[in-house]
Amino acid sequence: MPELDEEHQAMFRLTQELRHAVVEGEARERLKQKAQLLAEEVAGHLRHEERLMREARYPHVDWHKRQHNTIRNELTELAESLRSGEQAAILGSLEAIAKWMRDHTSVADRMAGAYLRNYQRASAPQDSGAELRRPSSTSLTLRTSTSGRNGFCKNAAPERIIP
Ligand SMILES: [Fe+2]
Ligand SMILES: [Fe+2]
Repeated sequence: MPELDEEHQAMFRLTQELRHAVVEGEARERLKQKAQLLAEEVAGHLRHEERLMREARYPHVDWHKRQHNTIRNELTELAESLRSGEQAAILGSLEAIAKWMRDHTSVADRMAGAYLRNYQRASAPQDSGAELRRPSSTSLTLRTSTSGRNGFCKNAAPERIIP
């Protein structure tokens, strides 16, 4: 899912930029602005991913959303540590967020991504234009043989469960 992958990259980048700003000792207001950007990016991404899973009737959506709630809590803790101004607490929060992102995107999001790709492929309109323009007994045979794909199960299991 390229659009989800791009959002993941943005989340990683904003986390990295905030960590860099903390280490560089930037002013607390600057750090809060960067943290706000990160929180908005993550919140938007989680909503987007949850909507796609819901639309595709992804069977593990509840389990997946519980994992998302973990990062929502981590971001709340980050905001609290920024209010406290303790650098060690802020860096600890950021490390927990980065670890969650690595773990979650490499397992749960890959499972969901495989399912969503299958779902989108199965839902895509079939291109029968070329065959209709040049009808022949061969194309009729081909059409018959490929039309079975129309019935491909939308709820098919992911291609691979474990990455
Ligand atoms: Fe996710
Ligand atoms: Fe994700």
